[in-house]
Amino acid sequence: MSPAPTTLLGSLAAFTAYDKTPVIGTRFPDASTQLSAFLTAPNADKLIHDLATLVAHRGVVFFSAQDITLAQQKVLAQRMGELTGKPASSSLHKHPVTVATAELDEEISVISSKGGIARADVKDRARASTGWHADITFEPVPSDYAILKMHTLPSVGGDTLWASGYEAYDRLSPTFKAFLEGLTARHDGNFFVKFAEAQGISVQDNRGSPENTGTDLTAVHPVIRTNPVTGFKSIFVNKGFTKRIVELSEDESDLVLDYLFRHIAENHDLQVRYRWNKNDVAIWDNRSNYHTATHDYFEVREGNRVVSIGERPYFDPKSKSRREVLQLKA
Ligand code: SIN
Repeated sequence: MSPAPTTLLGSLAAFTAYDKTPVIGTRFPDASTQLSAFLTAPNADKLIHDLATLVAHRGVVFFSAQDITLAQQKVLAQRMGELTGKPASSSLHKHPVTVATAELDEEISVISSKGGIARADVKDRARASTGWHADITFEPVPSDYAILKMHTLPSVGGDTLWASGYEAYDRLSPTFKAFLEGLTARHDGNFFVKFAEAQGISVQDNRGSPENTGTDLTAVHPVIRTNPVTGFKSIFVNKGFTKRIVELSEDESDLVLDYLFRHIAENHDLQVRYRWNKNDVAIWDNRSNYHTATHDYFEVREGNRVVSIGERPYFDPKSKSRREVLQLKA
């Protein structure tokens, strides 16, 4: 276990942390490091800014046994985006198929093995790798950060995996990178509309940005995206929602997307796997990473996720890749 480089930690260097793999994932293992305390610290804005920057660089960051409340989870998600420059019109996502209850409002996505959002498109006997996705990329203005706290877990199993879109981009040949950089892709979440119809619920509107409205859950985004916090390029297509590269024929698009989905799912050396303990929290950057749950258990597994809305995805041709900036071997 090697310590996380202090250059990326900023003010968080005051807490014990280590990198879980060279390219993705940093963990704060001590239960004495509480996100709730960051929110009320005299240097709260600095800590939250540095946390958002760390998550943008490392893809996903883990915290053990957290006491953070749902209200605080929402404040943290919104502040992380605000302090790293998200548009004033972006707030927290209301998932299209979220239903408010007495305890949970529409800005909380319940992630449960019993049904709902996390089970809306799970098909019997599908390969586990079909689960790779980034959250809500069917929205015109999708997510910057997500925060998931797991409160109920099976005795074993139910791990989550994340994969780095920066590293996935860096491993492509220069010719293939250049080919992808001008392209855009259509993302489609309309299976949630069918799910809502089947459940007899209406699709949530005004989903965290004035642009995220209506019941056609589709959006077109660049295939290679620049992360505004790190400035790094990332592949921005995912198996869950990306259906078609607009500028290619259907057959060409299927071929290229299949290659990219396999590139993400089959390179286990650009992934990190996390085994949860009760009340652990994971915070990830949805702009430059993908994740998937593992459905290998029979007990109840449940947590609460807050998804923050970021900016409209863009590709800056002047941006660089992670390996270029860090001067790592190409
Ligand atoms: C998610 O897809 O956001 C939840 C991941 C998980 O259930 O592990």
